[in-house]
Amino acid sequence: MLRGDVGLELGQRVALALRAALDVDITAEEALIRPSNRDGADYQCNVAMSLAKKVGRNPREVAQLIVEHLDAADAVETPEIAGPGFINLRLTQAFLEQQTNNLRHDERLGVPTTQEPRRIAIDYSSPNVAKEMHVGHVRATVIGDALSRLLAFAGHEVIPHNHLGDWGTPFGMLIEHLTDLGHGDDFRISDLNGFYQAARAKFDSDPAFADRSRRRVVLLQGGDEATLALWRELVAESQRHFDHIYDVLGIQLTAEDTYGESFYNPFLADTITELQQKGLVEESDGALCVFPPGFKGREGDRQPLIVRKSDGGYGYATTDFATVRYWVRERKVDELIYVVGAPQTLHFQMIFATSKQAGWLDDAHTAVHTPFGTILGEDGKTIRTRAGGTIKLVDLLTEAVEHAEKAIPETSQVEGEERAELARVLGIGAVKYADLHNDREKDYVFSWDKMLAKTGDTSVYVQYANARTHSIALKVGRTAPNDAAITLHEKAERDLALKLLQLPAAVQAAIDDLAPHKLTAYLFDTATALSTFYENCPVRNAETQELQDSRLHLLNLTSRVLTLGLGLLGIGAPERL
Ligand code: ARG
Repeated sequence: MLRGDVGLELGQRVALALRAALDVDITAEEALIRPSNRDGADYQCNVAMSLAKKVGRNPREVAQLIVEHLDAADAVETPEIAGPGFINLRLTQAFLEQQTNNLRHDERLGVPTTQEPRRIAIDYSSPNVAKEMHVGHVRATVIGDALSRLLAFAGHEVIPHNHLGDWGTPFGMLIEHLTDLGHGDDFRISDLNGFYQAARAKFDSDPAFADRSRRRVVLLQGGDEATLALWRELVAESQRHFDHIYDVLGIQLTAEDTYGESFYNPFLADTITELQQKGLVEESDGALCVFPPGFKGREGDRQPLIVRKSDGGYGYATTDFATVRYWVRERKVDELIYVVGAPQTLHFQMIFATSKQAGWLDDAHTAVHTPFGTILGEDGKTIRTRAGGTIKLVDLLTEAVEHAEKAIPETSQVEGEERAELARVLGIGAVKYADLHNDREKDYVFSWDKMLAKTGDTSVYVQYANARTHSIALKVGRTAPNDAAITLHEKAERDLALKLLQLPAAVQAAIDDLAPHKLTAYLFDTATALSTFYENCPVRNAETQELQDSRLHLLNLTSRVLTLGLGLLGIGAPERL
């Protein structure tokens, strides 16, 4: 039995039936067992459709053969075939109860660890030095963090890295501006954007300053120690701002995970040489370019990526080539994931295409870009401040916590520091959940009211449902004996237990598609099943002590499932509201 994952267990049985009936071998996963709530089914098996062609029969025939050979009477009622060849499976009462009870004793709540662990480098957050993180970075940060947690929980080796924008021509003017300010040891930039804008304004209006700035760039690139020291100060100061945000957001990234653009500097020349040796580089108007296959402009002209500008400088693409090469060659990763916004889709497609030609990427070393959409204001346009500026992430998070303070129920007894922490967990959770519960690739509208609503698909709803399991247990005033069994009498109990058994499927779906919203959808459904349970199944006033024990265990198990699920998304599950 595969760690209590009912979907896989049923898949195993279907695989055996197929071998007996048609002499074909499939894995438990390939049996395509999916949770279902149609026609009284708990699960649906879709393999007949996918196999029909291969075995030269029609899908209904295949389904019929599977059903005839299925040895699963201990687990499911007589299966029914529906539509073109779906097999509807309904768990027997005894099997469902047994599985639910097993789950109680599994630390991983049925979620298996992967049979094929991979070493995965995931690039996320990746803001720019001397610029405030804006709301767009919230998505790169929150989605990346959730994916990291999910992949690590599944048993992959995950190496997060923050591709900090810490290099390039703007640093000339930023460093000059820094020297002009006469900074000392405890120098702090309170407003990164203001600092950047002031430097920019001077650069545009003061030719002498612009001159100095250009010379600074040359010094920086030449490795001048005094210049590097100033540059390091700027980076360190920005890193402090970012670390603060990661801290408030509860993001796992630390300064050690920073592999900024500057990190790849020493590798750029070699990277280009290797591309040249492989015959991939062409000169075009003094610049060195690669032309990844298959990328054409409107006129059918080949699209270049510049790897060395005509002035000898390197750009964003060069660094990304060095990045792929470094992680695959030096760090031996099997997979690269880039959590970066949709506008950079073409950039990554081109980087990956050339990296394949260069032999850095191949069947065993893959790269994916997981793009995401834009956060919109309630007017449907890119979200802005009232004055029309970009919204800073820090301001947004502070506001989230203020709003969340108001979302704490009036009846709440939580006071003082615990209350402040509660507001943080609710507010930050709401921002993260609102971001994650949308299909990653779609734009979404940012709304405080919606994201903090106590009903509907919000983290607050899930957190409330979860906290209630604890308050009920408190009110009952006793804990159920460990060996008391969960029994499922009411429909609401059965439905809830069934949901609990589907956590592995939800986690797997979120991982397969790198789509955290598949897990939020599951958590919302589970919280909804829990609410129905509350309406129909008294716990404090349960008719018998056995029933009360059973329900206490069921509540406790549900809370563990919700807490784990939220945790995998980086969202807290407070016990008391
Ligand atoms: N710093 C970039 C930005 O803010 C994102 C970097 C993404 N990562 C990468 N390897 N290019 O748009």
